[in-house]
Amino acid sequence: MWIDQSLLQTSNTARYVREADKMGYMAVQPAQKALSDTSDELLDDTLGLLHRKALTILKRIRDGALDPETGKKVGPSYAISKAAALVGRTASAIREAERDGRLAARDRTASGHRVQYTLEELDHMRGVFGTRPWRAPEDPPAIISVSNFKGGVGKSTLALHLAQHFAIRGYRVLFIDCDSQASSTMMFGYRPDVDLGEDDTLYGHFHNPELLGVRSIIRKTHFFGLDLIPANLKLYNLEYEIAGYLAQNQSFDVIDLIAQAIDTVVDDYDVVVMDPPPALGMVSMAVLQAANAMVIPAPPSVIDFASTVSFIDMARTTMKQLEQLGGRIKPAYNFVRLVGSRVDDSKSMHREILAMMRQVFGGAMLNSVLKVSAEIDNASSRMKTVYELDKPVTSHEVHNRCMRFMGDVCHEIEQDVLRTWPSRAGQFA
Ligand SMILES: Nc1ncnc2c1ncn2[C@@H]1O[C@H](COP(=O)(O)OP(=O)(O)O)[C@@H](O)[C@H]1O
Ligand SMILES: [Mg+2]
Repeated sequence: MWIDQSLLQTSNTARYVREADKMGYMAVQPAQKALSDTSDELLDDTLGLLHRKALTILKRIRDGALDPETGKKVGPSYAISKAAALVGRTASAIREAERDGRLAARDRTASGHRVQYTLEELDHMRGVFGTRPWRAPEDPPAIISVSNFKGGVGKSTLALHLAQHFAIRGYRVLFIDCDSQASSTMMFGYRPDVDLGEDDTLYGHFHNPELLGVRSIIRKTHFFGLDLIPANLKLYNLEYEIAGYLAQNQSFDVIDLIAQAIDTVVDDYDVVVMDPPPALGMVSMAVLQAANAMVIPAPPSVIDFASTVSFIDMARTTMKQLEQLGGRIKPAYNFVRLVGSRVDDSKSMHREILAMMRQVFGGAMLNSVLKVSAEIDNASSRMKTVYELDKPVTSHEVHNRCMRFMGDVCHEIEQDVLRTWPSRAGQFA
């Protein structure tokens, strides 16, 4: 194992911070204990109270996203026509299979319609019809990082919808939440710092790799075909510990920790989606190292454009430095795509900057963009993605528009993935 276990004790964290700081690794320092004990208590009381109140609200919002009967989140289900399209057969082919016994006869609703089909049932149908889209063994799994420097540009939103898009279409997907703010983990129905311990995240895995193994921190989710490695605040400690390890060992192997974790389980998946933290710290570097493809959401504002440009530069130089220092060669990404995000068509400035981005980035930009949509905002405040809504939260028109652009963006990325699969070469000839 590449990590000296004695290095991975939380009690050592402070020392690592000091060492890492000396080496200039850390941008963030832990809060100084400058306040007197009395004001500490006051601070603790005030913040403690705010925290407790906030947790109550979070619980209420989260509970609202759960099914009242099962107390769990439920995945989507589809009427027969949509199910047929997703399975790659016609509705009459499904009806026929249900008549001739290849598929079980379908229960009806009170109004006489077939009960909707769940993702698990779609998977079963694909098994019966031979239409599972899984990669062939020689096809490289897509390991996609949805990255940018900044918070709030739509990374988690795109990462989640992308992962769900692939799962809905029958691919086997692993989502790794690498951000200690854990907003994606929340969308899977968890209160990250209440429901999950440090052993449940990548952090736990690196403390105890032999004991736990990556497989034991992978969870099934309410979305059939989409598995999760969750995150919570404790994951932030990984920043210190990687930095400390680097400082002490002068060895860059530790940057491969996420790559190695994925390596041990990736045979079970077609697509891995990583949601990295919004900064180029140690964990982000490990994510960039583990990925074989990158998608960069970039809102069309001057500030966000500037920050995207710095991100691209930083990512490039960091990878180069890692290559030089560690004597390692990181293979080129299979694809790197920028996607306009939070685009507001009604703003002329957005249109202009988007046009400029298209000129600058050319074919690396996706044709479709993620528009700003009340449907996304409203769904996420119910802790749902738009793919989890059984009816529009805004209007049908807004909902359908949102589903269309989200579908277009995800479809383009899916095509990028399929282009890297030799078994699909015929499709793109
Ligand atoms: N296209 C969009 N339209 C409306 N709201 C959006 C859109 N993209 C993201 N949001 C909202 O903005 C907030 C931040 O988005 P998020 O995906 O968490 O960003 P990041 O992961 O980059 O920090 C979330 O509340 C999300 O629901
Ligand atoms: Mg995020």
